[in-house]
Amino acid sequence: MTILVTGGAGYIGSHFVCLALSKGMKLVILDNFDNSSAQVLKAIADVTGVAPDFVEGDVRDKALLTRVMTEKQVESVVHFAGHKAVGESTQNPLKYYDNNVYGSVVLLQAMAECGVRKLVFSSSATVYGVPEFNPYTEDHRKKPFNPYGQSKSMVEDIMEDACRADPGLAMMALRYFNPIGAHPSGKLGEDPKGIPNNLMPYITKVAVGELKSLGVFGDDYDTVDGTGVRDYIHVMDLAEGHIRALEYLSAHSGYEAVNLGAGHGYSVLQVIQAFESVNGVAIPYDVKPRRDGDLAAYWADASKALRLLNWKTRLTIDDMVRDSWVWQSENPGGYGA
Ligand SMILES: NC(=O)c1ccc[n+]([C@@H]2O[C@H](COP(=O)([O-])OP(=O)(O)OC[C@H]3O[C@@H](n4cnc5c(N)ncnc54)[C@H](O)[C@@H]3O)[C@@H](O)[C@H]2O)c1
Repeated sequence: MTILVTGGAGYIGSHFVCLALSKGMKLVILDNFDNSSAQVLKAIADVTGVAPDFVEGDVRDKALLTRVMTEKQVESVVHFAGHKAVGESTQNPLKYYDNNVYGSVVLLQAMAECGVRKLVFSSSATVYGVPEFNPYTEDHRKKPFNPYGQSKSMVEDIMEDACRADPGLAMMALRYFNPIGAHPSGKLGEDPKGIPNNLMPYITKVAVGELKSLGVFGDDYDTVDGTGVRDYIHVMDLAEGHIRALEYLSAHSGYEAVNLGAGHGYSVLQVIQAFESVNGVAIPYDVKPRRDGDLAAYWADASKALRLLNWKTRLTIDDMVRDSWVWQSENPGGYGA
């Protein structure tokens, strides 16, 4: 039986694919290369020794999905495909509702038509919005304040309704905190197009000399050193969380939302310091004003993941900054180089 991995050529999806293939799992990737490239498939083959089964296409193409599900005997789906840039989602919300929400509805319809009952979905801590308390537990109220977070929250609600209507369905939304790091081989990693939105790819691009200095947005938050605190999680730990989620869904029906985070946070300056001391590379930075919409600090209560999935993070901030740097320094131009 096969796992359909939508968005499996992307950053997190490709790491999940490597891990799943290395465990002998059977899968097919569906990706439209909107934010990735065929080079990723070569890297996966290089690392695992297995050329992944791949279909180029869009999750909004129901005929294609039903064909793939039938021909490949798909039993479960891990749904990574989607857009993820918070800023862009504010400027172009319909793009996000179309790809993230409509795309997920089409996927659920195709699953229903083909009798596929298990789904793991890439959700985000963004669904919580401004913390009413920290750490976020899964029952923290959801109040996202940008269309990206709203799109994730809407898909969660749709999954929950679908499971309520059909008790035979088994679905889990994994709310990721801040994934960073790369495959330990140095052959796969995060390869954002243009100027990165996130801290770690920005740091590595400064380290490799592509960008001059890092902007640190705000040093007057009520945190350990005034800079924003986030719950960073190594992408390989995150990938393992999906394997555990699939195992859980093979034995349980219904809907669950589960945080995947370390359960503690690091400030921007702490991440810079870890990067510098582990890798021996200086990261020049400039403190800039706070950005609209940035939160001071949040991290996960990760106890539900431990209870339901027997999962917790194993890799440390040192592993994250080391693997990010190995990937970037060995591939200064990302997959294009
Ligand atoms: N990276 C993060 O910090 C983060 C945090 C929380 C949640 N997430 C979610 O996790 C998922 C994966 O994130 P990522 O960082 O790997 O992003 P990514 O952009 O690297 O990967 C997404 C993949 O989906 C593909 N894709 C997009 N739209 C598609 C469509 N309509 N049909 C087929 N393929 C499509 C892209 O080409 C890309 O390969 C996303 O849904 C994202 O919203 C990411």
